[in-house]
Amino acid sequence: NRYSRITGTGSYLPPRRVTNQDLAAQLATTGVETSDNWIVERTGIRARHFADPGTTTSDLAAHAARRALEAAGRVPADIDLIIVATSTPDMVFPSAACIMQNKLGIAGCPAFDVQAVCSGFVYALTVADSMIRTGAASKALVIGAEIFSRILDFKDRTTCVLFGDGAGAVVLEGSNEPGILATDLHADGRHVGILCVPGTVAGGQVSGDPFLKMDGQAVFKLAVGVLEDAARATLAKAGRTDADIDWLIPHQANIRIMQGTAKKLKMPLDKLVVTVDEHGNTSAASIPLALDAAVRGGKVKRGDTLMLEGVGGGFTWGAVLVDF
Ligand code: ACO
Repeated sequence: NRYSRITGTGSYLPPRRVTNQDLAAQLATTGVETSDNWIVERTGIRARHFADPGTTTSDLAAHAARRALEAAGRVPADIDLIIVATSTPDMVFPSAACIMQNKLGIAGCPAFDVQAVCSGFVYALTVADSMIRTGAASKALVIGAEIFSRILDFKDRTTCVLFGDGAGAVVLEGSNEPGILATDLHADGRHVGILCVPGTVAGGQVSGDPFLKMDGQAVFKLAVGVLEDAARATLAKAGRTDADIDWLIPHQANIRIMQGTAKKLKMPLDKLVVTVDEHGNTSAASIPLALDAAVRGGKVKRGDTLMLEGVGGGFTWGAVLVDF
């Protein structure tokens, strides 16, 4: 197989939907002030889903995986590689991927997590594509799954209104037809401090701050430029141009960053897939969640060319150009 192709998509949102108004009312009980207006204007977010206590990232991943398998006409036993992109795994170890593999009722195939925060899904897809093209795997489950609500400081209004929980998955299979056309990944560890959860587990307790910290403006400034560069790099590698992109499916963090990228790629805004309004920022889950919504909603069709791109903590960023 010279290429890998997406043969099915699936996603899952935990049932509890929290609107901006719900969240504002909840925060007000602890003296934290925010409003639907502020959140919508700055980010485009209107609601997000939060997992209930007891639900784990591997639970969300397993639901999304089953839907992707069904869409691909595959069963768990067909799968020979599992990669879960997450920064909120069930436990320090083993990986969410191993735990989820068992929930799917299979054993034996390699399973591991990729941790690149909001770029996690484009990283995971790139790794799976490489493994399929070298012959190390032929049918992969590639999943982004997060429960960011567990690492949010609900006393910090500058971050807690932005994120949500969920999972999205694709089945990626070896093929003689493309498929994934080009990938482009980057990291710059000089920017660790602008987006991080600095705490860790040590000496029998959490050492350091276990909550997400973000310098929103610093992230914003870096994001638009690097996203354009990564998108252009994949186009150049594939010998394609802006005009060939049918759908832009970016990491869903902020509508203004997404629209800024679309403008730089000279794409009309109706070619931008938007789910941030209903999902919030679900980190590594946001791209496969948006892809699945666009497929099931009838927007993305077989043969369309998709630009997937993400940016997140690390700093990490990357893009994947796909013929769907
Ligand atoms: N409700 C009401 N007011 C608020 C809230 C809130 N939830 N949060 C902040 N404010 C206030 C601030 O206190 C500030 O008030 P002040 O002027 O009196 O000090 C004012 O609103 C403006 O705050 P800014 O931080 O300047 O707001 P900004 O316009 O930069 O928007 C935002 C903040 C939305 C976070 C923006 O910077 C952004 O989207 N950055 C990119 C973030 C991002 O994309 N992160 C994710 C990428 S990677 C990943 O997904 C993990």
